[in-house]
Amino acid sequence: DRPRDGVRPLAGLEVLVTAGPTQEPLDPVRYLTNHSTGKMGYAIAEAARDLGARVVLVSGPVALPAPEGVDLVRVTTAQEMFDAVRDAFPGADVTVMAAAVGDFRVAEVEPDKIKKHGRDAIELRLVANPDILAWAGAHRRANGSQTLCGFAMETRDLEANAAAKLAAKRCDMLVANDLREPGAGFGTDTNAVTVLTPGDAPDKPHAERWQLMGKREVAERLLLRLAAMR
Ligand code: CTP
Ligand code: CA
Repeated sequence: DRPRDGVRPLAGLEVLVTAGPTQEPLDPVRYLTNHSTGKMGYAIAEAARDLGARVVLVSGPVALPAPEGVDLVRVTTAQEMFDAVRDAFPGADVTVMAAAVGDFRVAEVEPDKIKKHGRDAIELRLVANPDILAWAGAHRRANGSQTLCGFAMETRDLEANAAAKLAAKRCDMLVANDLREPGAGFGTDTNAVTVLTPGDAPDKPHAERWQLMGKREVAERLLLRLAAMR
C-alpha cells in the first residue's frame, strides 16, 4: 500500500517532527544525554516531505545531514526543544515526536568547569524537564484537526507502558519498540514496532505488531495512517 512515485497524499499538510537526543549541560564542558541517533525521526521527516507535506523538523544534536526541503530547527536542550515545538505546534496538522528527550536536567548548571579536587564522589541534583508531548496533547486545536503521535522505547512491559503513555499524553497513536528486540535498538536502520491507538477503554488500546522493516517504511506507514485519521 505504498504510494506510487508522484502521488502526494500529504500535500497541503504541515508535519512537525521531533528527533534525536537532547543534551543537558552540567558545566561548560559536560552534559547528560542518551543513545538516540535521530534516524527514526529523520526518516519520518524525509518521508513526510516526499509524501508532499511541508515539514518542520526540530532536532537535537545528531550526526545526520540536514534533509533537503525540510525546515530544520536545531536545538540542544529539552527546554529549547519545548520552545521550538511551542512555536511550530499551532500550525502543525500532524505531529510526530520521535525525540529521546532528557527527562531531567541539572538544577544548577555550574558556570565554571567542575573540578575534582580530590573528592571521592559528587552529587548532582536533577530537576524534571517539561514533557513536550504531554504539553502538545493538552494544547491541541479545539476542532480536533491535529493528529498527534508519540514514540516509546521500553525495556520491559512494552504494551502496558506504551498504553499508559498513549492515554496520559492524549495521543492518537503511540509507537513503541523494545530496546532489546533484534533490529530495533539505537542507531539501527530497521525497527520492529507495536502501534497503539485508543480503543474502547483507556486501559485497552488497540495494539498492532508490525514486522521488522526499514525505518523509512515504518515512517511512511505511520504518516499515511496519521493523515487518514484527520
Ligand atoms: N517526550 C517529550 N518530552 C519529554 C519526555 C518525553 O516530548 N520531556 C516524548 C518523547 O518524544 C516520546 C514520548 O514522549 O514521543 C515518550 O517518551 P518516553 O521517554 O518513552 O516516555 P516518558 O513519559 O518520558 O516516560 P519514561 O522515560 O519514564 O519511560
Ligand atoms: Ca523519558
